[in-house]
Amino acid sequence: MFSAQTSAVEQTKAIAAAIAGMCRAGDLIVLVGDLGAGKTAFCQGFGEALGVTSPITSPTFTLAQEYEGRLTMHHLDVYRIEQLEEVRDLAIPELLDGDAVTLIEWGDTIIPALPNDFLEVRLTYGDGDDDRTVAMRCVGPGWSSRSAGLQNAIRAWMDQT
Ligand SMILES: Nc1ncnc2c1ncn2[C@@H]1O[C@H](COP(=O)(O)OP(=O)(O)OP(=O)(O)O)[C@@H](O)[C@H]1O
Ligand SMILES: [Mg+2]
Repeated sequence: MFSAQTSAVEQTKAIAAAIAGMCRAGDLIVLVGDLGAGKTAFCQGFGEALGVTSPITSPTFTLAQEYEGRLTMHHLDVYRIEQLEEVRDLAIPELLDGDAVTLIEWGDTIIPALPNDFLEVRLTYGDGDDDRTVAMRCVGPGWSSRSAGLQNAIRAWMDQT
């Protein structure tokens, strides 16, 4: 696990963009964090870096949205899911199978329904209104093998400890 500090939304988006540059088809990113922590902002920065031109909005009411970029980007928000069975309707294995990357806000709430191979991005509030910690954890082989490259890509924002 490693983490970075941001003090403006643009910085969180820049971290997301750096991560997007390392993504490949089939990748899954699980976004964790309280309401307003910056999960959607992360997805916006990520999508822009993939070349998505349409506005990336919060999919809270639709659960899932799809955007076209260098890779297709599936953007899910499972905040409203109350039972794990409902996840089946989202057909996550099908989303991951294909030329796409998948980002799931509140994905930690449906871990049993996800493959054991993803990047967890955890956003937490800091002292100032615009301060956030962006903690990353590589789960499974696909991301663990890219951990060093990932840390290198976000070096500018990493904790100096
Ligand atoms: N350092 C920062 N990183 C990310 N967002 C920030 C930061 N500083 C301020 N913000 C603001 O915090 C808000 C984050 O909102 P966002 O919708 O991305 O949160 P969220 O985690 O997706 O919330 P929800 O759980 O409701 O989906 C935005 O208004 C953004 O401008
Ligand atoms: Mg959101």
